[in-house]
Amino acid sequence: MLKGKKIVLGVTGGIAVYKAADLVSKLRKEGAQVRVVMTEAAAEFVTPLTFKEISGNAVAVNMWEKHREFNVEHISLAEWADYLVIAPATANILAKAAAGIADDLLSTVILAARSPIVFCPAMNSQMYVNPATQSNLKKLQEYGCVIMPPASGFLACGTTGVGRLPEPAEIISFLRRHIALKTGDLTGLKILITAAGTREPLDPVRFVGNRSSGKMGYAVAQAAAERGAEVVLVSGPSALQPPPYVKVVNVETTREMMEAVLTEYAAADVVVKAAAVADYCPREVADQKIKKSTDEPLTVVLEKNPDILKRLGELKKHQFLVGFAAETQNLLANAAEKIQKKNLDMIVANDVTLAGAGFNCDTNVVRFLFPDGTARSLEKMTKFEVANRLLDEVKAAINK
Ligand code: PMT
Repeated sequence: MLKGKKIVLGVTGGIAVYKAADLVSKLRKEGAQVRVVMTEAAAEFVTPLTFKEISGNAVAVNMWEKHREFNVEHISLAEWADYLVIAPATANILAKAAAGIADDLLSTVILAARSPIVFCPAMNSQMYVNPATQSNLKKLQEYGCVIMPPASGFLACGTTGVGRLPEPAEIISFLRRHIALKTGDLTGLKILITAAGTREPLDPVRFVGNRSSGKMGYAVAQAAAERGAEVVLVSGPSALQPPPYVKVVNVETTREMMEAVLTEYAAADVVVKAAAVADYCPREVADQKIKKSTDEPLTVVLEKNPDILKRLGELKKHQFLVGFAAETQNLLANAAEKIQKKNLDMIVANDVTLAGAGFNCDTNVVRFLFPDGTARSLEKMTKFEVANRLLDEVKAAINK
């Protein structure tokens, strides 16, 4: 998403300048071109040479230096930029930008910029919460600038509080999300996704579960968020890190998943049910750990869980409903039956006996089936690619 983007990074004088060097490196790894403008105060913390080497471009600090690439430095930098990112942004640069003061190269570039401007404030907590700073931030937002809220934690001044520059990876995620919201093809859609397996307790230490890792559902959540959708991810237990800018609701049992999904359903435009939901749960849940007291077999009576997707199909109004079918035999017949029974708009059928398909692997082999009987088979591909192909189908269907 940042590939080929031209970014002017404005670096102002705070202890977090060292993180800006890493930010430049990460932006370049994403494929962005970066030109750095430093204030003179920033150049006291880290030398321009560091940024020159990391960015691969000359670093501009002073209005009056001669640069080969640019004639009128502040205007040409402002015109070159697809994005102007100020990180770290001190209270001073926020105040100057809010007041329209242009008394050095960076503040002049900011005033001349036509591209989106993203400020990443970083300062002492008291300075950050000071009404003057807050009023400047509000004013900058009113002017159309984007503010990335600072993180909280240990600050250079020895106190703990709000004001830390977020980690470079978080700034990159923030930029990606911002671009996705502006240009993504799913912007404006609310997509509800379920992932991973549900667990049904037997006693305080044991459960009935399945092999779902969450990889398929998390891939759909990541792809949807990167394409600008508002994403709610209802997840059973999973070792995965949820994608950024996704609302996560953690659940354990099928009934908990049902409750969470029904809470979000009315506002959802699209539902993708990639979770492997336990169809049965133990009728009795022991209060204490079950002991192996005799040599007799242990009998556990399982009773039926609600079918969440079937319920969604019954309640369906405007929603586009996508189910998954994990099958070990009669793939197409079983999947087609689920479309009808659960009133779906699409089903993703995966034969989980195939190598590189189904549970806990990074790839999948799926077929998309539709209520009118049409089907599309995909070759083996990563779950992230499957997720994007699935979302392409959804988008095409809802735009019909
Ligand atoms: O998580 P991974 O390790 O990446 O594995 C991915 C996956 C194999 C779990 C995924 O690709 C997949 O196939 N998910 C659906 C698994 C499943 O439960 O299939 P099913 O055929 O039993 O259920 C059909 C559909 O009804 C599913 O969308 C399921 O979420 C839903 N369902 C099922 C039972 C139930 N009680 N409530 C439901 O909502």
